[in-house]
Amino acid sequence: MGEFIMKDTIILAIETSCDETAAALIRNGSEIVSNVVASQIESQKRFGGVVPEIASRHHVEQITIVIEEALEKANMQPSDISAVAVTEGPGLVGALLIGINAAKAFAFVHNLPIIGVHHIAGHIYANALVQPMEFPLLALVVSGGHTELVLMREHGSFEVVGETRDDAAGEAYDKVARVLNMPYPGGPHIDRLAHEAEESVDFPRAWLDESYDFSFSGLKSAVINYKHNMDQRGEEIVPAHVAKGFQDSVVEVLTTKTLKAAREFNVKQVIAAGGVSANKGLRTSLEQVFLEEGIPFTVPPLKLCTDNAAMIGAAAAYMYEAGVRGDLSMNGVPGKELKSWK
Ligand code: KG4
Ligand code: ZN
Repeated sequence: MGEFIMKDTIILAIETSCDETAAALIRNGSEIVSNVVASQIESQKRFGGVVPEIASRHHVEQITIVIEEALEKANMQPSDISAVAVTEGPGLVGALLIGINAAKAFAFVHNLPIIGVHHIAGHIYANALVQPMEFPLLALVVSGGHTELVLMREHGSFEVVGETRDDAAGEAYDKVARVLNMPYPGGPHIDRLAHEAEESVDFPRAWLDESYDFSFSGLKSAVINYKHNMDQRGEEIVPAHVAKGFQDSVVEVLTTKTLKAAREFNVKQVIAAGGVSANKGLRTSLEQVFLEEGIPFTVPPLKLCTDNAAMIGAAAAYMYEAGVRGDLSMNGVPGKELKSWK
């Protein structure tokens, strides 16, 4: 009797929604074969944020190089690939289109299916590269553009149970960092400073009553007002004390709401995802709370928290299994909603 060998599912994934040009090859939804990220942080730093036109120009310059490097590092040919996946949205439309057009061209030339992935689904599925997911699952998604609590009852099913009403957590980090004269992106700098401080300035927490929604603009304004008041009185602020006060407020609100939702929905696993989940204070707080609560908690390694294509490939592998396919009419959707594929 002949031996039956199952062919691996290999996804070539592309991500260009913001300021990282990224390509990755993922085997069977769980193994990173290669993961290449070309960051624009150095050039965007000068402007204190991401300038869309500059982002697009960088993506155009980098995309082909990054895809070739991903194939080379994996030692793979286009013929090894099962499908091409790309971030369809949300993100900057000009940036998204560079990745989408590259994905379409690759899929067309090599006669491969194409799969459009939601950026947040990608962030969530970064965790599938660490550990298999257990359902029901609660995901805290905290990035530069998003702050959401997402309930998943099975693969490909997403219910947003809470979201920010104003600024995203990462956006608040970046704005507060600017007030403290720190470079973009400010999150890692505030995180580091907060850990150096022994004292902190007391800032408010926005609980929004029983809701699982978030709000960070009041906290951001409180930091700005504090700085103005100190300036007017001719007093110097201690940036580390401000950073710690700000971070304590963000971490306490995120942790408390995540715990409350995890209890209400009786979840088997809690995960954190997105750029802000690289935050040391937040990781420690969530790890400790869910250890005490007895609910398994996972968060990806730092490299997989911020934007990358491996996470897009991980989500796409499950979409591929579920039979989800896009086509060459795919377009960038800047405000794309997180919808279930099941
Ligand atoms: O997920 P991401 O790379 O891009 C988006 O999809 O938005 O997230 C970027 C955000 C930035 O706002 C950055 O300041 C924040 O993640 N970030 C952090 C840390 N590392 C990155 N925020 C707090 N602490 C960190 N260690
Ligand atoms: Zn992101």
